[in-house]
Amino acid sequence: MRILGIESSCDETGVALVETTGATVPVLRAHALHSQIAMHQAYGGVVPELASRDHIRRVLPLSDEVFAQAGCRVTDVDAIAFTRGPGLAGALLVGAGVAVSLAAALGKPAWGVHHLEGHLLSPFLSADPPAFPFVALLVSGGHTQLMRVNGVGSYELLGETIDDAAGEAFDKSAKLLGLPYPGGPHLARLAEQGNPQAFALPRPLLNSGDLDFSFAGLKTAVLTQVKRLLGLELSGVLAPDLALTLPEAVRADLAASAQAAIVDVLVRKSMTALARTALKRIVVAGGVGANKVLRAQLDAACRQRGIRVHYPELHLCTDNGAMIAMAAAMRVQAGLLTPAHSTASFEVKPRWPLDLI
Ligand code: KG4
Ligand code: ZN
Repeated sequence: MRILGIESSCDETGVALVETTGATVPVLRAHALHSQIAMHQAYGGVVPELASRDHIRRVLPLSDEVFAQAGCRVTDVDAIAFTRGPGLAGALLVGAGVAVSLAAALGKPAWGVHHLEGHLLSPFLSADPPAFPFVALLVSGGHTQLMRVNGVGSYELLGETIDDAAGEAFDKSAKLLGLPYPGGPHLARLAEQGNPQAFALPRPLLNSGDLDFSFAGLKTAVLTQVKRLLGLELSGVLAPDLALTLPEAVRADLAASAQAAIVDVLVRKSMTALARTALKRIVVAGGVGANKVLRAQLDAACRQRGIRVHYPELHLCTDNGAMIAMAAAMRVQAGLLTPAHSTASFEVKPRWPLDLI
């Protein structure tokens, strides 16, 4: 069965074709992606209206690219999966509209997929796929969750952020350091030259005993440090880009310290989740999963405990269509998705907890 996947929940338009072949792991045949990062950069963040309009422009040309890569035609597709949520309502509507209309024209099913389930199952697209059950650390721009994954469609929430997501903490800290959107990768690059112990930044809920996270305080701590370094009143407003007047080495130290604070908490809580569930496998998914320091520290902590770590391939860590097609394909194989689940509605779910699917 050939499943076309369409992702349009935020600032990436992704289209992919995944094929199920019997009981083995589904195979990625082709995928194409357009990132809107350059377009939103001037605004310092995602502008929802511009995102929706750009998805409209990109989705059909990207689909053509996918068919050309896979050497097939749109009529060879057996089903169309699209991201139903969570995400930006207008952006989601573009993918839903295209998927449902295309499916209706072809007389094939259209299936709405959960974006985070896509991230969660994206390591199955790698050469060394994990086996169930496992702990999943989902770290994206909008979500930070630890889950116990028993199998496809069986997700138990163990803990999550009570305020900002890990990706948000990266992005907000980066912005305070005068770095462009999205800040995560930029902050990580600047941090390479810095000393992670230079600034003592808070690690909220590190010893709280539960598996929840809180990152909002980190942004405030970084803001305080930047103001101190600039000799500003702590109560005053920080003008954008003023941090760029600080010496590069100081900014690098602060970037490295912020990254270390985020990574420390993520690694420590992941180890607690593994100990609590007595599972010996962890999957890391979502954009922050591309962070090299997180990967190195998680690898080291897991090596010590005899735990296997699985990551999606680096280019499939951030949003893409392959993970959406893959999540649908794995649901089909698990018997959870059939033509009877096809939707003819454009209904999207901007807010949609993963454990409620
Ligand atoms: O999963 P994703 O592509 O989109 C959402 O569903 O949110 O994640 C995007 C997030 C952004 O916050 C971005 O800054 C962060 O992932 N990110 C990184 C890195 N690459 C992407 N954060 C830290 N280090 C990276 N290398
Ligand atoms: Zn995502």
